[in-house]
Order: sequence, then structure tokens, then C-alpha cells
Amino acid sequence: MPDDPQIWIQILLGYIHDLSIAVYLGGAVAMEFVLGPAQTSIPPAQAQVMGQKTSDRFLWLAWGSLILILITGALRLERLDMLNVTWPFFESPLSLSESYGRTVGTMFVLWCVLAINGALVTFRFRPRLAGKIAPGTSAAQVTSNQAGRIAAATWIQRLTRADLAITVVVALLGASLKWGGLL
Ligand code: HEM
Repeated sequence: MPDDPQIWIQILLGYIHDLSIAVYLGGAVAMEFVLGPAQTSIPPAQAQVMGQKTSDRFLWLAWGSLILILITGALRLERLDMLNVTWPFFESPLSLSESYGRTVGTMFVLWCVLAINGALVTFRFRPRLAGKIAPGTSAAQVTSNQAGRIAAATWIQRLTRADLAITVVVALLGASLKWGGLL
């Protein structure tokens, strides 16, 4: 059992990093392989409400874990004496001339892609799923709203799928760091 409190901090940061990854990846897997297929066997109107409610809840989990992944990742680098608050901010091996630095750099870029995708789902596509039909709405308007909702749902599905693939790749890169990086 480690006596050094610094080691306990490293263990805790790694633990939160891994738990957050498990929540993010597990959530994306459940959406893709459990909820998505199950939705095809219920009536479209109910599937839409279910999709909306589950993505509302999933987004909280996804944002919480994404933020924790970044914070714990950066703190781990700081604890490993690779990142600091004074110029030039990065210490070896965290430079692009080294495999470790290239791997962490790629992980950070892919994390940014996940955050952009999350923002697109949260602020652009998810609001389009909502909306009750107000009295007096024309048939043409109802059809056009419905088409907009289907397009938004399709985009959410595509982005969730892409996030899943990206996270699997980043997890591989993360696992390689202990051995000096993969790129
Ligand atoms: C979705 C994004 C990410 C995933 C899926 C991911 C995954 C992983 C995995 C599987 C590990 C190996 C297990 C472990 O030691 O905990 C790891 C380690 C690590 N990750 Fe992440 N990670 C992500 C983002 C980040 C980011 C953005 C940073 C930096 C800001 C980062 C920094 C680290 C560090 C420093 C380690 C430990 C490396 C070592 O032992 O030398 N991770 N990550």
C-alpha cells in the first residue's frame, strides 16, 4: 500500500479518468446497440418521445464525463511533471517531436471533436426534436416540422455513432501512453 499521498492523488485521478470514460463509452454503446434497435419496435410517436427523453438524460452524463476526462487528464499530466502553468507550459515528453506528445496531442484534438459533436447535438439538433403542434398549424407546416425532426434524429444518431468510434480510438491511444504512446 503506497505511503506517499502524491501516489494516492495519482490513483484517484486515474480512477476518475477511467470511470468517466466508462460512463461516456458505456452510455454511447447503450444508445447505439440497446436503445436504438429497441426503438424500431415501438410506434414512431412513442419512439420519438423516448428518444428525446433519453437523449436529454444522456447529454447530462456525456457532458459531465467529458469535462471530468479533460480535467483529470490535464491534472495527471501536471502530476507527471509534463504540464505546468508557466512558459513553455509543456515539459518533455509532451512535445510533438516525441511519440508521447503526439499521442496526447491527438487525444486532445479528438476530445475537442467530441465536445463539438456534443455541442451540435445539445444546441442544434436536440431542440429540433421537441415541439408540440399548436392549434391552427397547417398540414404543410406539420409535415415540414416532422421532416425537420426526422432529419435532426438522423444527425443525432450519426454523431453518436461517430463519437463511439472516436472514443474507442482515444481509449486505445490512452492505453498506449504508459508504454510511450502509439503515434
Ligand atoms: C475521450 C477522451 C479520452 C479517453 C477515452 C481516454 C482514455 C484513456 C485511457 C484508456 C487511458 C489508460 C488507462 C489509464 O491509465 O487511466 C488513459 C490514460 C491517460 N490519459 Fe486519457 N483519455 C481521454 C482523454 C484524455 C485527455 C484529453 C487527456 C489530456 C488532457 C488525457 C490524459 C491522459 C493521461 C495523462 C493518461 C495517463 C498516461 C500515463 O500513464 O502515462 N486523456 N486515457
